[in-house]
Amino acid sequence: MKVIVTGAAGFIGGHAAERFLNRGHVVIGIDNLSRPGNFANLQHLSSAGRERFLFLHADIRYASDIERIFADHPDVAVVIHEAGQVAVTTSVANPRMDFESNALGTLNVLEAARQKAPKSIFVFASTNKVYGGLEHLGVRESFGRYEYADTPEGISESEPLDFHSPYGCSKGAAEQYVRDYHRIYGLKTVVLRQSCIYGTRQYGMEDQGWVAWFTIAALLGRPITLYGDGKQVRDVLWVGDLIDLYECAIERIDVAAGRIYNAGGGASNSLSLVELLSMLERAIGRSIPRRVSAWRPGDQRIFVANSAKAKRELGWEPGTTPALGLPKLIEWTRANAAGIESLLPPVDVNDLATALR
Ligand SMILES: NC(=O)c1ccc[n+]([C@@H]2O[C@H](COP(=O)([O-])OP(=O)(O)OC[C@H]3O[C@@H](n4cnc5c(N)ncnc54)[C@H](O)[C@@H]3O)[C@@H](O)[C@H]2O)c1
Repeated sequence: MKVIVTGAAGFIGGHAAERFLNRGHVVIGIDNLSRPGNFANLQHLSSAGRERFLFLHADIRYASDIERIFADHPDVAVVIHEAGQVAVTTSVANPRMDFESNALGTLNVLEAARQKAPKSIFVFASTNKVYGGLEHLGVRESFGRYEYADTPEGISESEPLDFHSPYGCSKGAAEQYVRDYHRIYGLKTVVLRQSCIYGTRQYGMEDQGWVAWFTIAALLGRPITLYGDGKQVRDVLWVGDLIDLYECAIERIDVAAGRIYNAGGGASNSLSLVELLSMLERAIGRSIPRRVSAWRPGDQRIFVANSAKAKRELGWEPGTTPALGLPKLIEWTRANAAGIESLLPPVDVNDLATALR
């Protein structure tokens, strides 16, 4: 079959494209090449044996460009929509660009699919940020980490929406359009509200992709800043497990169409910041310098998704614990250290000095 992957030069889009290529499918990748690591990821996809991969340099903010691509490929069976602006910090600095990439860009891809490939399956990468700050939930500290007082299994899809930050708003608006295109136009759409996804070929930076960023910083000797007390907890999901979920949703599209699923590692795959640092220290055999800074506005003490609905309806559950995933991420980071280093901003010696203090 033919698959269109937007954001194919990015982290998750690149893994999705690779999976479909490995299954023998034809993949059309779209990306505007605006993120660090894009060229390395594309090189990986274009390497030997990838003659079924076609890359198109395009920007989803421009409706006519996207429409033209879909017009050229009306036989596309699956659309995996990953392209977008991904950092909350960037969305605060530039809300218009964030809106145009995430909300308008998604509408453009949806419209192209509706008009040119109305039978296609459309999978959208949404985010747990649509649930907002969840300030009403009780949180307590236990064994040096935060936990929910009354909802140990985490946040389910029935939690009311409460968009926070321009990023939360633009992704939230986008996912509601995606869902509604099933109700109104019958497009076979699925929304996945993803928690923190980690894995190889993720060029994490301080403001996005914290597991990858801590790993890169630890191995490359970059200073790590802990905002808050470091006891804050997130559920993490290995990228391969997420792509398994995409495949489950496609296989069970009779059930999944028009539905929304959380896609997280859940309570059993959750990590606090200091727990991740300890795992990294054990793996690399030395202590990792860090500095501590004040909590950032809106930082949650805990977010853990309950993905029981995806298990119940689609038969999916994550299989890769952090103990299994982290060594693979470390190995990839070590093997690609020079390339990753070249994409990082120059080291600020004052920063380093503070971190080492
Ligand atoms: N990584 C996570 O933990 C996570 C969690 C929740 C949701 N998501 C969502 O998953 C998707 C993929 O995230 P990722 O981690 O792979 O990020 P990424 O930055 O690695 O990939 C996104 C890709 O989209 C491209 N892009 C950005 N704006 C574009 C535009 N206007 N037109 C065309 N291409 C554009 C970028 O160049 C990049 O290659 C995003 O939509 C993100 O919001 C990611």
